[in-house]
Amino acid sequence: MALRTAAAASVPPSSDALLGLFPSGTTTAPDGGLRIGGCHVTELAARHGTPALLVDEGALRDRAGRYADGLAARRPDSMVAFASKAFPCTAVYRLLAEEGLGVDVASGGELALALAAGTDPAKVVVHGNAKTESYLRAAVEAGAGLIVIDNFDDIDRLEHLMAETPGAGRREQAVLVRVTPDIRPDTHAAVATGQRGSKFGMLLPEAREAIARLRACSRLRLDGLHVHIGSQILDTEPFVRAVAAVAELGRFPVYDLGGGLGARYTYDDRPPAIEAYLDALTAAADALLPAGARVIIEPGRSLVAEAGVSLYRVVTVKRSGGETFVAVDGGMGDNLEVPLYGQRFEATVATRVRVPGEGAPGERCRVVGRHCESGDVLSAGVFLPDPRPGDLIAVPATGAYTYSLANNYNAARRPPVVFCRDGRSRPVVRRETYADLMRRDLP
Ligand SMILES: Cc1ncc(COP(=O)(O)O)c(C=O)c1O
Repeated sequence: MALRTAAAASVPPSSDALLGLFPSGTTTAPDGGLRIGGCHVTELAARHGTPALLVDEGALRDRAGRYADGLAARRPDSMVAFASKAFPCTAVYRLLAEEGLGVDVASGGELALALAAGTDPAKVVVHGNAKTESYLRAAVEAGAGLIVIDNFDDIDRLEHLMAETPGAGRREQAVLVRVTPDIRPDTHAAVATGQRGSKFGMLLPEAREAIARLRACSRLRLDGLHVHIGSQILDTEPFVRAVAAVAELGRFPVYDLGGGLGARYTYDDRPPAIEAYLDALTAAADALLPAGARVIIEPGRSLVAEAGVSLYRVVTVKRSGGETFVAVDGGMGDNLEVPLYGQRFEATVATRVRVPGEGAPGERCRVVGRHCESGDVLSAGVFLPDPRPGDLIAVPATGAYTYSLANNYNAARRPPVVFCRDGRSRPVVRRETYADLMRRDLP
């Protein structure tokens, strides 16, 4: 996944194609402004400020329903567990719990957020390649449904914990073994996790050893296997191979097949639809796994990315060295996906949603942030119609891994999260204040 150069700027093929990158239900108002969840961007900016992370609540519920109903229709004994690292915000946990989803957590913090949001502990799947004793203890004490064993230290620590905490009220803890199937999907190296040499999980021989050890543990109940081969995968075939790999390890009551389906960020991206992914995955499960086995999946990116939109205000337009820099009031403080993974994003002037050939000439632009690094780029090449300071810029498909990776570089205040639905907007996370930036400082 290479960082796009300005020379490879993409032109929206049509206004419809542009709108197609935004949450389902996004429309344009008669004045040419975007409406997200029925809310006009001008009003959203006036009420909540910029930058802001907008979430179309209806679109998010729709995607959650497609996942949950789609999997249940194909494998009745199943669960969709939201991979919450993609958007660990209590309002999102709450919404997805309402839609019947479970949760995958990868830290004590994510566990605390999930529980605070009312997630049923029995629907929590506990992950991590370096689980501390306090994290494991919190998971056991909360009654987490499944703990995923990543390594032999996990077994030792958990066994010890179960032995020394008879008062935890649990006779046994259900666990899965995370398998590294030696599959390298076509995605950025930083988010490939299933290959030999990955820090996650156990290769097949080690997994066999872990299975044998767990079978001998009196208070750890081995329910099955887990596999997760990476993120932003735009083809179903590697997922099918991963099912075949875990099937080699024997028959179990539970198989957690992880997440990883890619999201659509650009005009060129063609990720499989949720339904096509579920078809491929469950066909492989039907063919290769025991008929009655429970199937769990853990979508993150593909569940939340396309429900999110980042809204910025243009601060400066600079034409220099053959480039047009459109500098906005956010950047790598609220979206690290470009600098970290070379993720490509499109962008539009949110109040003049027109494309070349449809009334506005458009100019090739580099949308950059306000931070002190040249790598602080939001969109390395897009055509924008006559961008000016004060314009609103909308970047679609920013619902995944932006909130979680947001930071305070240049002492930037992290933006609010605003849910939009049926023409009403409500902040579910407020903008940070300067006082927040000093809150942890000691005299
Ligand atoms: C164990 C596990 N499950 C699920 C996911 C979610 O992946 P994605 O957001 O690509 O669906 C991840 C992400 O890295 C993960 O580590």
